[in-house]
Order: sequence, then structure tokens, then C-alpha cells
Amino acid sequence: MRTLIKDGMIVTSEHEFKGDILIEGTKIQALGRNLRVEADEVINAEGMYILPGGVDQHAHFSFEFMGQRTKGFETTNAAALGGTTTVIEFVNQEEGKGLVETVEDYKKEWVEDISMVDYSFHPVITNPTKETFEDIKNLPSAGYPTVKLFMAYKGQFFHSDDEAVTNALLEAKDAGVTVMVHAENADLIELMQKRAIAEGNTDPYYHALTRPPIVETEATERAINLARFAEAPIYIVHVTTKGAVDAIKKAKEEGLPVFGETCTQYLLLDKEYLSRDNFEGANYVCSPALRDKDDQEYLWQSLKDGWLNAVSSDHCGFTTEQKKMGIDDFRKIPNGAPGLENRLPMLWTYGVEAGKITRSELVDYYAASPARNNGIDHRKGYLSPGYDADIVIYNPFVKKTVTIDDSLNGVDYTTYEGFEQIGECDRVFLRGETVVKDGKYVGQQGQGSFIKGTAYGTAFR
Ligand code: URP
Ligand code: ZN
Ligand code: ZN
Ligand code: ZN
Repeated sequence: MRTLIKDGMIVTSEHEFKGDILIEGTKIQALGRNLRVEADEVINAEGMYILPGGVDQHAHFSFEFMGQRTKGFETTNAAALGGTTTVIEFVNQEEGKGLVETVEDYKKEWVEDISMVDYSFHPVITNPTKETFEDIKNLPSAGYPTVKLFMAYKGQFFHSDDEAVTNALLEAKDAGVTVMVHAENADLIELMQKRAIAEGNTDPYYHALTRPPIVETEATERAINLARFAEAPIYIVHVTTKGAVDAIKKAKEEGLPVFGETCTQYLLLDKEYLSRDNFEGANYVCSPALRDKDDQEYLWQSLKDGWLNAVSSDHCGFTTEQKKMGIDDFRKIPNGAPGLENRLPMLWTYGVEAGKITRSELVDYYAASPARNNGIDHRKGYLSPGYDADIVIYNPFVKKTVTIDDSLNGVDYTTYEGFEQIGECDRVFLRGETVVKDGKYVGQQGQGSFIKGTAYGTAFR
């Protein structure tokens, strides 16, 4: 099967040009101006933008938190609809199991034959034993070149202390594994939460007030210092605030291999959403907490300056019913917000159309850079011959308003409800197969496949 996409504006992370793309089977066969080839289907893409399929390096499916489980890989059609053709999921190490074993079992039970987009995994250390740390060296050959630790969430089984983070860094550096951390000071959060509750402050808004920027800044600085001690690369997930960016910037200026991402919600929303009536504020409870408007400007600029290199969704599909666990106590609200399908259109609307970033920068933050970070950039994130034919035809003429009625996220609200949206994914290819057509999902469950990452994302080499 040969498909020719003609006369679109092809956008790569370096430049854009009007041209054609030939898909042959599952791969991009050729790219250029006026390709003179026969094809089974010719698509006229005049006026459209042609982007590589997105890579969301930070998403949660079937994720258990505070006794509640998010929606799973059966909702990854939402990713496809939003132009994301690869998701990378965090898998918490199970009791009594190694890291590789946990992920292999998780893949069989929760992902294979279900996922509608391609996928990879970040194992999460929850059992900081000698055996676990030794298992880190087995990760690259299994195709998982990252390992994640949560410095936040005291009292949860997946919380890690500095000793665990340091042991992981020491093991990871020679194995070609990148350590990722959720950097927030867990003790400081607990202290402030106890004080808030003692004063009778139980509303969702106190989630933000008890996790002020300093808890993230302090933990980010500490994580970088642990990496400095271990002489290991480190990746800081969901960076939201100036102090944390500045810590990354300072380390980079010293030449240290320190990297960070931010997420769509931190670029677009502020903490006032947590004060919404009727417990609606709970829908915006995620960690780190939403910040202020000036933090958003700083994050956009930090992407442009290269201090942050990717934008993820940190997607969590909890329902409003599940959020009600914390109706009397904000500490019990399961953390996380859905955003799997909104990443590209929101970056397009509020980044590109608003003049904050270029289309090529968008492609870098949402596809190419996450592919590099996770060692899948030999197949994903680029429009080049030989790459997987994961391609988005983006129609910039559509204007609409985000609403849950159009959403495939599987829960009963969307974080971006009421946001104006410019453009939509008119057509999306996953390894050459059409999974979105005329803005509608048309694929099938189980179409996604596992993508093996290679040791150290190229970003670190
Ligand atoms: O609030 C969030 N982000 N929930 C998901 C878990 C995490 O910290 O990434
Ligand atoms: Zn996190
Ligand atoms: Zn997360
Ligand atoms: Zn590579």
C-alpha cells in the first residue's frame, strides 16, 4: 500500500517546506517537492500542515493512586485523535517483583491487544533494595532506558527518599539508563498539609497552597545535587516554576546533563481553577500544583531558551466520582488531570497561533525531543525516510471550543473545557494506517505496538 500526501506544508523540528510525503507500508519512503510516483491513494494536503506523530513521554494509564485507578489503554484513541501516536507510561514496581518483570507483566495484562497507539514504559522504583538497583542494568536490553522515582507523595508506596534516588543514579549512569524524578519536598508538603487541616482548611484550593513553588524548587535543586554527586544524567519531570527552571539552567550552564519537561496544563492554567465551586476545583488537583500566570510566561520562554526540552500531558483519567474521595479532605483527592488529546491542539492554539513558539519548535517539544529523550528517535518523532509513518495532517482552518462531548478521554470532564481551539488533526497515520480521518477516530484496539528504547536517549549522548 502506497499513500502520497501532496502539497502540504511539511514541518520538521528544523524547518518547514511545501512538499510531498510518500508512505510505503508502515514507513516513510520519500519526502520532497513534486514526487513523481504512483500511489494507491493520493491525498491533496494543500493548506494543511504535515507534522510527525506526537510522542507523549509522560502519561498514566491504569494508574493506581490513593486506592483509585485511572482509565487505561482502552482510552488511547484519545491520544490518536490529538495527534499523539506514541505514549510512554510509568509502571510502578510491584511488591516482590523486579523492574523488568513488573513491566513485562503489566504489558501483558494492561496494554497488549488494547493500546491504540504505540507505547513504551518508564519503570518506577517502589522497593529500594539491592536487587532492585541491580535490576537497573537489565533495563536497556529489555527496551526501557529510563527509571523513575517519586521524591513527592510521602506515605504512598511509590515515594522514594534521597538514598534511593542516589542509589538509582549510581546504578543508572553506567547502564545507559536515565533517572527521571518527580521533584517535590515530601516532608515540607506534609507539614503544610497538617497545618491546613488543623485549621479546618479542607477545600481543593489548599492543595495548591500547601505545595507552593518552594517545595518544587528545593527538591529540584536537591535532585540535581544528587546527580552531581553521582555524576549521572537526570531528567526532571513536570517542571512548573521559575526556581526549578533556574536550577536546571544553572546546571546546564555548568555543562551537566540535566534536563526537564513541562506539561500543557502548566502553560495554560493557573491555580485559581482549584477554587471553582461545587468541588469542580478537584478536577484541577495535580502535582506539582497549578501556578500563576507569570509562571506560564516563564515556562514558554524556558522552552524557547532550551532550559526545558519537552511538553508532556501527565495525563491521568480520574472521574469526578473518584475525585470525590477528597470531598472532606483535599489530601485524599487522587492527583492528576486528563489531557492526552489536547496537547497538540492547545500548543498550536496558545503557542503557535499566539506567536509564542514556531511550528518547528512545537514539533520539537511534542515529538522529536521526547523521542530523543527516550531513545526511540530512530523510529519516532521525525519525518524522514525510513522512519515509522506516524504522520499528522493538521487542518489550521478549523475553529472550535473544547468540550467533553467531543472527548475520547473516557472520563466525565476535560481539563480544557471551554478553551477555544484553532485547528484539529484532520488525519493521523500510525505506522502507515489511518487511525483518524476527517477529525474522527477510525482505528481499532490493539493496533499499538511496543517500541524498544535504546540506552540513553540521544539527548544525553
Ligand atoms: O498529579 C499528578 N501529576 N498525578 C500523576 C502522578 C504524578 O505525579 O505524575
Ligand atoms: Zn509526578
Ligand atoms: Zn505524572
Ligand atoms: Zn537513536
